[in-house]
Amino acid sequence: MTITFIGHGYVGLVTACVFADFGNEVYVIGHTPTKIARLKQGDPIIYEPGLKELLEKNIKAHRLHFTVKYEEAISRSEIVFITVGTPPKANGEADLSQVMNVAEQIAPHLKNDLTVVSCKSTVPVGTNLRIEALLSRKKPAAARVAVASCPEFLREGSAIDDTINADRVVIGSNSPEAKHLLLKLHEPIAGKRVLTDLASAELIKYTANAILANKISFANLISFFCETTGADVEDVLDAVGLDKRIGRIFMNPGVGYGGSCFPKDVKALISIGQQHQIDVEMLKAIDTINSQTRTNFLKKVEQNLDGNTVAIWGLSFKPNTDDIRFAPSLAVVATLLKRGLHLRVFDPVAMDNFRKQFTQPQLTYSKNAYEAVKDSDALLILTEWNEFRQVDLKKVRSLMRRPLIIDGRNIYKPAVMKELGFQYISTGRQPIL
Ligand code: UDX
Repeated sequence: MTITFIGHGYVGLVTACVFADFGNEVYVIGHTPTKIARLKQGDPIIYEPGLKELLEKNIKAHRLHFTVKYEEAISRSEIVFITVGTPPKANGEADLSQVMNVAEQIAPHLKNDLTVVSCKSTVPVGTNLRIEALLSRKKPAAARVAVASCPEFLREGSAIDDTINADRVVIGSNSPEAKHLLLKLHEPIAGKRVLTDLASAELIKYTANAILANKISFANLISFFCETTGADVEDVLDAVGLDKRIGRIFMNPGVGYGGSCFPKDVKALISIGQQHQIDVEMLKAIDTINSQTRTNFLKKVEQNLDGNTVAIWGLSFKPNTDDIRFAPSLAVVATLLKRGLHLRVFDPVAMDNFRKQFTQPQLTYSKNAYEAVKDSDALLILTEWNEFRQVDLKKVRSLMRRPLIIDGRNIYKPAVMKELGFQYISTGRQPIL
């Protein structure tokens, strides 16, 4: 098939590369010429494991094309995917300007044979109907178009595998022809097929993300109970998670969720609910608890730090990505800088992105994890990168001025840390002081 992706972020570029790898002819449209030039050279711009290799391979095979021109791609394509951002507005509502702008630019290039325009961007219920109305209004009179909602469930850091080995493929459309074409395209993808209407497909994505965010906030809430009552959150959640109805996955407490999806999608669902006069107190609590995880973490720093040099390991919102959007590190670093502390930070891949936002002289970007902890009065762990799990902790202890570790991801065992002579304060477990 010949297909087009508009937008080349974590969803657009990964999915485009995967479908090109299956043998499809794939166009990717962007609006920044310098970025399109880099993509053409095989530079993915973002960091995602395996993506560079997949990109280079499919460019070489002449199946993957990058352009800024809609006319080059749209009229050739059977399916056009919209994969642009829907960032939150100040009031929490999803900003749909990019999505609607893209739809407007697609319209004049639609052809007489059917084109399916499928939205992968996370959009509020009713948006695809608006896209359909706009396309019908602006397309050439004889052109045929059908709209579908095909939400994406990939996680950054494991995006390629998540795309190929999906749990489910959701296709929402009022057009049987669109469903048929999308089913055909997704044939090599694993997972159950869910065929539904537009509104349900749109709501499936928000529901999935809100439930996952809820699991994390619930685990964090229980960690607050554990810290004040003397219980151990890992024991509590391990035992609770053995109940198959609950499960242990996505219940890791710490410094809360970040990234480009959970924070924005929970807020957007609150906003959708408010527009429909639905009581959204439960959703608001998910968001509030997430903020409390940061406050709780910073309180531990406040109460235990003796000195003014703090090392930080992990800046990305999760491991295996360079993405720092809504990462816990943003709030933690900003607060500690305001307090006048000297920060020595290290992240395996996210430092370039962090540097674009934080250039204060009290902040030093370190070459590696050991350099960051040298002469520090505390080490804060914000992202559970694998390379932090098996560092030489004796070496870390000898490099630090004061052996205090505040772990926002519970990556070490308290008993081991005690033996090594650390003061170790983790989440929902009794501190080693
Ligand atoms: C998420 C969804 O998982 C994915 O299905 C959807 O398509 C996009 O949003 P992503 O944001 O890439 O994916 O990463 P995810 O692994 O879900 O983690 C999100 C945040 O939650 C991270 O900050 C992570 O550290 C945090 N998290 C996750 C926890 O704090 N505890 C957990 O148990 C799990």
